[in-house]
Amino acid sequence: MTQIAQPFGVRIRGTGSCVPERRLTNNDLTKLVDTSDEWIIQRTGIHERRVCDPSSEGTFTMARDALKNALDMAEMKGSDLDLIIVGTVTAEMTCPSVAARVGAALDAIPAAAFDLSAACSGFVYSMNIAQALIRSGQFRTVGVVGAECMTSIVDYTDRTVSILFGDAAGAAILTRDPDPRIGCLYSAMGADGRGWDSLYIPRRAQEIPANDIDNPIALGNLRMNGKEVFRFAVTKFREVIEDAMSKTGLTPESVGQVVCHQSNIRIIESAREKLGIPKEKVYINIDRFGNSSAGSVGLCLDQLWRAGKIEKERPFVMVAFGGGLTWASGVWRV
Ligand code: COA
Repeated sequence: MTQIAQPFGVRIRGTGSCVPERRLTNNDLTKLVDTSDEWIIQRTGIHERRVCDPSSEGTFTMARDALKNALDMAEMKGSDLDLIIVGTVTAEMTCPSVAARVGAALDAIPAAAFDLSAACSGFVYSMNIAQALIRSGQFRTVGVVGAECMTSIVDYTDRTVSILFGDAAGAAILTRDPDPRIGCLYSAMGADGRGWDSLYIPRRAQEIPANDIDNPIALGNLRMNGKEVFRFAVTKFREVIEDAMSKTGLTPESVGQVVCHQSNIRIIESAREKLGIPKEKVYINIDRFGNSSAGSVGLCLDQLWRAGKIEKERPFVMVAFGGGLTWASGVWRV
């Protein structure tokens, strides 16, 4: 999907995020599974992750608070929104959507609201859809959220899954802008459902493939073939960034920040090195927050935005991949 001459531009008016206070360190995990701080840091780059208090926090509360923060930065109210999209695979309920509940909590009535299921690609997918709807003239102001309470679907006896994931939400407020040069310059989304069973959350036993039937992980929890996902991610991540940069004529020198899904430091580093992108242009927070699926890119974007690292002069790139298998990119000028 390429945007060239469009009647409207899209402005990012504000960003926000929310992470729970509770921390789960690698040393905490050694009390739950057979692992070590050194192994986790070396294989993933993660030192600690944030964990919701299930009695009072979850995907809905984080999504609500992240979007509220973004509205505050934009100096806007919920009632200014005409659409809310929440990228998530950890909604508390399949109906209603998290987006509808967030809309009610922030007085964003009668804004349209829906959840988008693209796993770790959820925030970038949602940003791409939102900006296309604004450019088409259908919506004027959209609240985009990526929110995930991954710890609600992690089996803490599984040492491959439990070490990776944390909870977080990130959000952005997008508005129509008269300058068509502002906004998303290029976006791409894709999926290869043939690899669905390398990262999945089965609700019924009959969905589990024969080769995973003996896996002791309870229904409703995430199952992951780490090696398969790693193989897919290392190649796809590089390809997606390369595609986004070449289609927009960006080079490692001219690109701004490359805002990557925080999956595993080795996956990010391998892509960064192969593409020759300087270290300071690829933001890393996986050490502190782990992999928060759809929460991760929005969280990174908010932290970069608030630190003044998203420059007007240089387009930035968002890139993600995850369950589905899915992938997405977006190149933005602010
Ligand atoms: N602690 C200590 N040892 C562990 C371990 C843990 N948490 N998890 C696995 N091991 C062991 C394995 O049992 C294996 O031991 P063996 O050689 O005696 O059989 C060894 O470490 C290597 O296991 P392997 O599965 O090859 O590790 P890895 O280097 O592939 O790392 C992941 C595992 C999960 C960190 C890695 O595969 C990964 O990051 N995959 C991608 C996951 C991802 O990004 N998912 C989200 C996508 S959005």
